Order: sequence, then structure tokens, then C-alpha cells
Amino acid sequence: MSDSPFSEELTARLQVMRADLESIGQSHLLEHVEGHSPECLESLLDRCDEIDLLSAHAFIEQASASEFEAPPLDRITPAVSISRHPEDEEDLRTRGQQLIDAGKVAAFTVAGGQGTRLGWNGPKGSYPAAPLTGKPLFRLFAEQIQAAGRSAGRKIPWYIMTSPINDAETRAFFRDNNYFGLDRTDIFMFPQGVFPSCDDAGRFMLASPESIAVNPDGHGGSLRALRNSGAIEDMQARGIEQISYFQVDNPSVRALDPLFVGLHLDAQRSSGEMSSKMIPKSSPEEKVGVFCSIDDRTCVIEYSDLPEELAEARDDRGELRFIAGSIAIHLLSVDFVDRITAKGASVGLPLHKAHKKVPHYLPNEDRMVSPDAPNATKFEMFIFDAIPLAARSLVYETDRVEEFAPIKNAEGVDSARSSHELQLERAARWLENAGHWFPRNEDGTRLADVEISALTAMQPSDLEACPDVPESISAGDQLAI
Ligand code: UD1
Repeated sequence: MSDSPFSEELTARLQVMRADLESIGQSHLLEHVEGHSPECLESLLDRCDEIDLLSAHAFIEQASASEFEAPPLDRITPAVSISRHPEDEEDLRTRGQQLIDAGKVAAFTVAGGQGTRLGWNGPKGSYPAAPLTGKPLFRLFAEQIQAAGRSAGRKIPWYIMTSPINDAETRAFFRDNNYFGLDRTDIFMFPQGVFPSCDDAGRFMLASPESIAVNPDGHGGSLRALRNSGAIEDMQARGIEQISYFQVDNPSVRALDPLFVGLHLDAQRSSGEMSSKMIPKSSPEEKVGVFCSIDDRTCVIEYSDLPEELAEARDDRGELRFIAGSIAIHLLSVDFVDRITAKGASVGLPLHKAHKKVPHYLPNEDRMVSPDAPNATKFEMFIFDAIPLAARSLVYETDRVEEFAPIKNAEGVDSARSSHELQLERAARWLENAGHWFPRNEDGTRLADVEISALTAMQPSDLEACPDVPESISAGDQLAI
């Protein structure tokens, strides 16, 4: 009889995992387990299996070779494939609308981020984002999807990527809100994957005696998560051809934009594989990725990676040379995602590294460490790194007030306050464009606040003969229609 408290089965599992971890130089993770209870060991082995440490290690090794590095400055030029105010706008819009109406475009929200900067205690999508009613972000998107479905005469599916950290809470939020009036079978929610964090010696870390320290794999992880979760298969079964991708933090996004779909499908302009939206940056410091061209391929360089010399560069007219700011809105074809994820985990995206403070468990001393300084590397993938994998990629210039009112910070730039201002200004513009009088000061500042639900209007023309719009709007009014 052995003295081990572990069953034969558990001992066999432990041996296999030990051999695996040894083969990748990570055997320290199991060094301390002799004192564990069987439940605790089982739990740790389950975590190791779930994360698939062998694949994660291989991916990190392989991707470290293609780790993102900004190329030499002279190879980076401003992106050229930018489309503004197309002459054939109406035709393109009609074409895009036809695809949406045929049920071939799905909405896709990436909502796996932790919203640390915002300081919101819950999934970011539950944040009250609408300026007057305080409707949460998820409800604002749901209303758009419902309105688009109503006009198409069919249900439009909505795919939502959560993370292992907020998946249960996000599901509960939808349940508690009765799926915001959508059919729950048309909402496909799945958690993104994770990568193990590595200490400064490249070793994986324990988060507790029975778990590994991991971090979500970035919104670029949405590509492999779409495949691993079965979402791609679900899309194929439903006849979905295009995925309308957007971030959870932007209440002004057009969740399904007919003009953008039309442009993306136009073979003269794009391969129809991956297209993006941009707005002119407000200043060299604005924290948005920038569309560039490297060796004639369109790509995005994240603000933190764009050399200052380029971020500040101006042309003869004094305009920023690298002005095309990414608002993280993309269209991706299902075939494209299927193709680039066919080989499994290694989607072909580079890994971005961030040196962060990662609390971890020290088995030898049986205690947790909360570091004061960054002690570990987190690995992430970014969705925009898929752009150069498309045969040809279009970037469409849009308008900040119309489509970009992000809520990222608790105060100041990109806060709820700045977002409300943009949302209210857009509503005023829409009313004016639809022929209504709107009270403003001589300098143009608004004297009333109106919030427009997507269920009332998806575009200004919907407000022309709309019974919800009062005959006159007076200074001081606060109206939600
Ligand atoms: C992001 C973009 C930036 C773009 C800007 C526009 C990156 C790295 N940068 O900046 O180029 O100009 O938005 O607003 O994305 N998310 C996940 N899982 C993750 C990480 C993030 O789902 O593992 C989601 C978040 O929920 C959020 C979005 O991705 O919806 C943005 O993530 P965040 O890391 O906050 O990027 P930003 O710095 O805001």
C-alpha cells in the first residue's frame, strides 16, 4: 500500500502532467503538491488541462519569434486605402441593407475587458451609458439589433465575447434584464481564452495552491474563441456571411451599418475579408491606434507603439500625417475567420507583451505575494493585427459625433461625461437634419437635451414624420424619445 493520499488515477494524472510540464521547463508548478488534498490537486490538474499549458507554451514560444515590433520608421507610411464620402453612397447603402435584410450579417461585441480604468464593479456592458435614461451599454446595442431585425423582418443574431472573469456575471445581467427583449436563442455568448502570465524568468506562475495565474488573451483572442466556442459553425448554419465587430465601450457605434457593409462588399475597394472604420485623430496624443501602411499592407499601430516622431509628424498643410485613428469597428467575413483559425490556436497574430503587477502564490512559503512593481509579462493578441492577413482591406472614414463616444475612464477624456455630450449632440443633429427646430445658443451650444432610442430612429430620416418627436423642443427640455 502506498502512503500517498492520492488515488491511483490521480497519481497517474499527476505523473503525466509532471512529464508534460518538464518537457516545457515548467515543472515547478507541481513541485509543492505533495501536501495537497486530493481535491486541491485535482483542481490544479483540471486548471492545467483547461488552459492547455503545452499549447500555450508552444504558442508563446512561436509567437515570441513574431512578437510585435514597430518596423524601422522609413517603412511606415500613412494608410492609403481610405474611403471618404463615396459618390455611390446610396447604391452601397442599398447593397449593404440587402445583405442585412437577408439575415447574412451578425453583430459581434467584444466585452471581455475588465474596465479597470473605468472603476466599474461589474461587466463593462452593464455600465449606465445613455445620457438621460442611464440605459446600460448592452441595452443600447440590443435596441439597435432589435430595430435592425424589425426592419429586416427577421431576427439578427448577436455574438458576445466575455472573459472567464466576467462570463457568469454577464450571463446573469442578460437573464435579469430578460435579454433586453431579444430572443435568448439569438444571443450566443462565449468566454475568450487565456494565456498564462510569465514571471521575469519566463516561468508560469501559480495564482493559488490550486490555480495558475492567467490573463485574458486580448480581443485578438476573439478569432480563436469564435472557432473554439462553435460560434463560427453556428454562423455557418444560420447562413451568416459577415461579422460586424465592435467594442463594448462605444455606445454610439452603428452595430449594423448598411453603408459600411456595402463598401466592404464592393470588390473594387475591398476583398470583403476585413474592413475598418477610422476618424481623424483630434491630436497626436489621442489614445487610438493609427492606420498605417507597412510594405504596402494596411495595418494598425497601437498608440503606445507608434514612435513619437511619427505621431507628431505633419504634412505641408500642417495636418497630422498619421491621422487615421482606429475606432475599433470592423467587418470580417465568416470565411476569413474560418480560414485564419483553421490551423488551431496559432491564428497568426503576433503577441503583444505588457509588463504588469501579477499577484501570485509562493508554494514554498505558502503565501500570496502582491507585488509593488511589475513582476510578470501578460501576453495579448489584438484584432487589428488580422488586417494584413486580408487580401485587400478598406478603411472607411466616418464622423466622431456620429459613431465614436467611448466610455473608458472614470473622468476626463473618454469618460461617461464626454460620451454623454457626444450622444446628445448627435441626437440634436439628427433632429435638425430631419427638419426639426432645435434650441441652441448663438455659439451653437445646445439648450436642450434629447436622447434618441434606436427603437425610435436608426438614422435622421426616421425622425421626419416620427410621432414620438414633440411639435416643438424648448430650451431646458430633457427628453428621451
Ligand atoms: C482600443 C484599441 C485602440 C482603439 C481604441 C478605440 C487596443 C489594444 N486598442 O484601445 O487601437 O483606437 O480601442 O476605442 O485594443 N477586450 C476584450 N478582451 C480582452 C481585452 C479587451 O474583450 O482581453 C475588449 C474590451 O472589453 C473593450 C475593447 O476590447 O471592449 C478595448 O479594449 P482596451 O484594452 O480597453 O483598449 P483601449 O485602450 O480602449
